[in-house]
Amino acid sequence: IEKVEKITCVGAGYVGGPTSVMIAHKCPHIRVTVVDMNEEKIQQWNSEKLPIFEPGLEAIVKECRGKNLFFSADVGKSINEADLIFISVNTPTKMYGRGKGMAPDLKYVESVSRTIAANSDSPKIIVEKSTVPVKAAQSIKTILKEAQAHNSSLYFQVLSNPEFLAEGTAMNDLANPDRVLIGGEDTADGHKAVQALVDVYSNWVPTERIITTNTWSSELSKLVANAFLAQRISSINAVSAICEATGADVQEVAHAVGCDTRIGNKFLQASVGFGGSCFQKDVKSLVYLCETYNLQTVANYFHGIIEINDYQRRRFSDTIISEMFNTVSNKKIAIFGFAFKKNTADTRESSAIHVGGHLLEEHAELVVYDPKVPEEVIRHELGLVSSPEKVSKLVTVASDPYEAAKDAHSIVILTEWDEFKTYDYGRIFETMKKPASIFDGRLILDRKTLQTAGFRVFTIGTAKTQSLNLFP
Ligand code: NAI
Repeated sequence: IEKVEKITCVGAGYVGGPTSVMIAHKCPHIRVTVVDMNEEKIQQWNSEKLPIFEPGLEAIVKECRGKNLFFSADVGKSINEADLIFISVNTPTKMYGRGKGMAPDLKYVESVSRTIAANSDSPKIIVEKSTVPVKAAQSIKTILKEAQAHNSSLYFQVLSNPEFLAEGTAMNDLANPDRVLIGGEDTADGHKAVQALVDVYSNWVPTERIITTNTWSSELSKLVANAFLAQRISSINAVSAICEATGADVQEVAHAVGCDTRIGNKFLQASVGFGGSCFQKDVKSLVYLCETYNLQTVANYFHGIIEINDYQRRRFSDTIISEMFNTVSNKKIAIFGFAFKKNTADTRESSAIHVGGHLLEEHAELVVYDPKVPEEVIRHELGLVSSPEKVSKLVTVASDPYEAAKDAHSIVILTEWDEFKTYDYGRIFETMKKPASIFDGRLILDRKTLQTAGFRVFTIGTAKTQSLNLFP
């Protein structure tokens, strides 16, 4: 295959959806079909209400849908029609058997490989878009080779093309990527396949930003990139604990440290810990990979990232409980934000789930407000860390932040939604039980304004206001 004309993407999720939409938008000459075994999701992609929220996504879907962008539940047919197939299915942490809680579950990737083998009767380029451990391409290839052995008109090349988009800014990340990474076999056919995919991206990505490597470097780079990103968050969160103990201020430290151009100022925001479907899963996958190759010291090093993240969430919950006089039982606590970050409705591995779970253990009454996350998702996620009975008894979901805070003893900020900065906290304070506290787990609110309004304010990485006054 020299020139790609038809692309099928298997997996219509947070990655497969937006990525395919961007390719269709930037390459009007390519016909892009997105398929998924979840028919309801496909129906949503074909409807007015898309299954995921991403700023800028809807407009482009409307522009391309029905022209060169299609959403279909007929996986087999769309696979056979394509010259290039993205595998963009989920690779969650395995929750059973060998590697439980650490290794990624590759059953969906394998199942797509088998579907491709069973439904193809022409040559195809297969592209791993999902995040996978190093050498996953080998397993895909072995499965496809089996099909090739029975049908001489078949030929497959397997490429690795990990996705680096971040939810919440996916469309912009896809339109202006820092880099596109394509790994392939170091053979003449491998180079041709890599070039065919380079030609797709070069419709909009400057060629100097398209990196080509061997397959294993590409697979590993994705895990390493996420480990480095998560490591920065855990590093600054570890520092926030030192700040709280000593009276240093984590934002001042982050600024001072981040001004060093070798370090850089991005991703140095202390918080209640990272969430999302990727960081924890991919760091665990890297740790498991190290262990598989008997690199225990390296595994331990990366595992520290996860340990600090768990520690940070627990530490924040403990601060809430202790600052609310060591009892939150039957006290109403307003939770602002449930998504794992702003501008997405995605709650996978959100710190809000864990902090919410800790507070429910203490029998707190939670009133959750999030601008985008639906009530049933909030109930479902909390039910997994607590119990559905407890959730129905202790959790309310509000559709208005002022309503959520009414009669609450405290407000806990768990997502950095911009709108949280715009509320009239004076008005909110008046409706709350006193003393009223705010726990800012995202460092987005202005401490002084809140204190002037009457709040007791607790932020990550700052010594508690009461004890800060060393020279009274
Ligand atoms: P997702 O869960 O949103 O979407 C995956 C989709 O694949 C689901 O709709 C599921 O129904 C479908 N699927 C699973 N098995 C299938 C099969 N055999 N046939 C047809 N459809 C099938 O997952 P998401 O977030 O899009 O992630 C996909 C991959 O991309 C993962 O490996 C993830 O690590 C990686 N990734 C995710 C990023 C993110 O921000 N969410 C960023 C970069 C990479």
